[in-house]
Amino acid sequence: MISCSTLYVCTTCRGSEAATDAPRAGARLLAAVERESLERGSAETGGGPAIVGVECLSNCSRSCSAAVAAPGKWTYVIGNLDPDRHAADILAFARQHSGHEQGLPVWRERPEHIRKNTIARVPPILFKEQS
Ligand code: FES
Repeated sequence: MISCSTLYVCTTCRGSEAATDAPRAGARLLAAVERESLERGSAETGGGPAIVGVECLSNCSRSCSAAVAAPGKWTYVIGNLDPDRHAADILAFARQHSGHEQGLPVWRERPEHIRKNTIARVPPILFKEQS
């Protein structure tokens, strides 16, 4: 059984924007991803990732940032996301991740921005039986 993935979007990233009272770029990215998911949702059923806002993924210098994870799968941190340009890319990658048993979407099928801005990937946690 394939476990559904979660797309974590950092809401505190500033991206390249200076400090202002305006909503942060990360918060705008989360809103854009949620909008994109709703628009696609009617055309696709099941298997879509959960979308969760979080504060700081420790990738501030290469923000905006997001991560994709699921139990038993590889975890990815993606950076340099522009809320006006990359919501569809990160959502597409999260859907690919959700649909793969080990969280290893085919490299050439990943959106180009994701291929070029994967900051890290982390193997799934291995559980060991205690004797
Ligand atoms: S504030 Fe977004 S990664 Fe640190």
